[in-house]
Amino acid sequence: MTSSRSAAMRVVEPEANQPAVGAAHGDSATIAEIGAGLLAPQAAVSPKYFYDGMGSKLFEAITELPEYYPTRTEAAIFAAHGADMAACTGPGMTLLDLGAGNCAKAASLFPLLQPKHYVPIDISRDFLNGAVERLRQRFPHIEMTPLALDLAGPFALPPEVGHERRQFFYPGSSIGNFTPREAVNFLRHVRENIGADGGLLIGVDLVKDHGVLNAAYDDAIGVTAAFNLNMLRHLNHLAGANFDVTLWRHIAFFNAAESRIEMHLEALEAQTVRWSGGERAFARGERIHTENSYKYTRESFTALLAEAGFRVDGVWTDAAEWFAVMHARVAE
Ligand code: TRP
Repeated sequence: MTSSRSAAMRVVEPEANQPAVGAAHGDSATIAEIGAGLLAPQAAVSPKYFYDGMGSKLFEAITELPEYYPTRTEAAIFAAHGADMAACTGPGMTLLDLGAGNCAKAASLFPLLQPKHYVPIDISRDFLNGAVERLRQRFPHIEMTPLALDLAGPFALPPEVGHERRQFFYPGSSIGNFTPREAVNFLRHVRENIGADGGLLIGVDLVKDHGVLNAAYDDAIGVTAAFNLNMLRHLNHLAGANFDVTLWRHIAFFNAAESRIEMHLEALEAQTVRWSGGERAFARGERIHTENSYKYTRESFTALLAEAGFRVDGVWTDAAEWFAVMHARVAE
């Protein structure tokens, strides 16, 4: 900084408190995708960029927050109704776990569901391999075939999956992070891979009191805020951007018209952000949209499944009907 006096005369001097543009560690397609999102009239960044090492740990912490009811409510539904679900799915299937992560949810259901073959699917192979190594020791009689697949578009399962009856498993209400149109497309791709006698067991977060919804995505001690803001650090790393995380704040609210929680990052003051190959000026109060989490009713989600070619043959909820686990089969 050559002259702090003249800098003070300017309306905006963002460089004074922003880190310099650094090296970009993402590949060129990643940087281009991030840049295009930041330059859109309504700036947006894909939620997949939440998950660096810190992001994954913060997400795990979210699931333990008192305000974040989905994880424990779903777990309670599995604990209370797992035997009924197992009666619905029948034993000895190939269990395909979509977005398996550490495989813990599916593994907790192995004693009830009794799969013959377990196929955890996730984008990150490293993560899967470690988890599957540990599971093989605990469940030596279950064949395990981890698959690294991007489920964003149509997907094809390799021959190792075999032709045993296929039971897909998609817990955690991750389906809510797609728009309804994307969700229908995704479920159609699942249906294309399922075979006539297979099924889908899926967790869905339900519409409820708006205060409960808002608190779940904006907790009192700020873990969700940290999770959202951490994306900016990840973007600094991937795209060589120079976001100053102290100049942004976490916003989350239920948009009733769209039936979704929206998460945004809002600029606390005017600033220019630079990254490898681009820059954008943000006005104070301007937002970057980072995630949606759609909330359904039993009826609206049953209709969505029907659009994708499924008919529902099992629904389990908690007493307050905050969350539902549904089972669906391919419709004729
Ligand atoms: N799918 C879950 C949900 O929408 C988990 C999740 C994804 C999440 N991204 C999030 C939770 C961001 C909190 C914040 O609730």
